[in-house]
Amino acid sequence: MANPSLLILAGDGIGPEVMAEVKKIIGWFDAKRGIRFDVSEDLVGGAAYDVHGTPLHDSTMAKAQEVDAVLLGAVGGPKYDKLDFSVKPERGLLRLRKEMDLFSNLRPAQCFDALADFSSLKREVVAGLDIVIVRELTSGVYFGEPRGIFTEGNERVGINTQRYTESEIARVARSAFELARRRNNKVCSMEKANVMESGILWREVVQEVHDKEYPDVELSHMYADAGAMQLCRWPKQFDVIVTDNLFGDLLSDAAAMLTGSLGMLPSASLGAPMANGRPKALYEPVHGSAPDIAGQGKANPIACILSFAMALRYSFDMGAEADRLEKAVEKVLADGVRTADLMGPEGGVPVSTSGMGDAVIAA
Ligand code: NAI
Ligand code: MG
Repeated sequence: MANPSLLILAGDGIGPEVMAEVKKIIGWFDAKRGIRFDVSEDLVGGAAYDVHGTPLHDSTMAKAQEVDAVLLGAVGGPKYDKLDFSVKPERGLLRLRKEMDLFSNLRPAQCFDALADFSSLKREVVAGLDIVIVRELTSGVYFGEPRGIFTEGNERVGINTQRYTESEIARVARSAFELARRRNNKVCSMEKANVMESGILWREVVQEVHDKEYPDVELSHMYADAGAMQLCRWPKQFDVIVTDNLFGDLLSDAAAMLTGSLGMLPSASLGAPMANGRPKALYEPVHGSAPDIAGQGKANPIACILSFAMALRYSFDMGAEADRLEKAVEKVLADGVRTADLMGPEGGVPVSTSGMGDAVIAA
């Protein structure tokens, strides 16, 4: 059987720096575990604009559609801030998400014990936290029509439309239930069915998909505002949360910060299954290109490394290898190895980007 294929798009700023550490880890899996990927690399964002005049060349888009998984670093930077909207680095990422139809965005909020004091919440509330928010990514109020700023009488009115079809709700619900089966068999769906018709439909469809296809998974429903409170009060009551694009944007950012540094947060964006059964998939750290620290060896590569662990788990069914990698990260943190962003008052062993990658490999 052919090796699984990976397309690496390192991008701009710290993107190539953190990706270099993932490449070392991919090399480690090859040398020590006999797990080989067919890795190709290409340009995205400003790096692609510099060469092609577009943030994502058609040939790169075509490659992304063919591979088993795309691994992306970060895009953007001050050098590109004045570019026309149509060729901004971010457009490259948006095009990938749109054309691959990545409707399910997985945002874990995981709190490694060693970093629990970084949270703004009490240690006992966050230590050991391990939840995933599944955010619908391709529909809802960010895309619904009508939209715009119109004039009505003698004043302006701004309009956006929350719109969800049954099939859009059903497919993201399935993705959350599938995820729950790999984890602790528990899903909480969040909407505002008390004040929004789209929320009423959301609740109905999630319940129907559950009853027909996933009766073994424990399902609860919560209003999203109450969910926000519960996330701050006692986040460990949740395991998988599924919600729409807008609420998911807010709730996943809030949940992520329960756990500390931006340099720690991975993500996955999944689409429909391909012919080989694997979902279309893009893995990337949540952080951006961090121009303020780019080129200085200061970036924390863990978010990118954990994104690769998600790829092992969700694209390649290598859950045990993903565990191996995550345990190595956990050990390194427990040993006090710290990039600058993780250096708290208690101190630690300061390392550079590549020092962190080396420590993870050693562990
Ligand atoms: P950012 O995430 O790049 O940086 C925010 C702050 O967090 C900075 O102080 C940065 O130094 C720090 N930080 C981020 N990642 C880190 C890491 N791995 N290790 C240590 N510290 C880290 O967000 P910002 O500054 O708002 O945006 C910078 C550029 O990145 C902009 O051009 C923006 O458009 C782009 N961006 C790209 C994203 C992507 O590629 N998915 C997401 C967010 C922003
Ligand atoms: Mg956001």
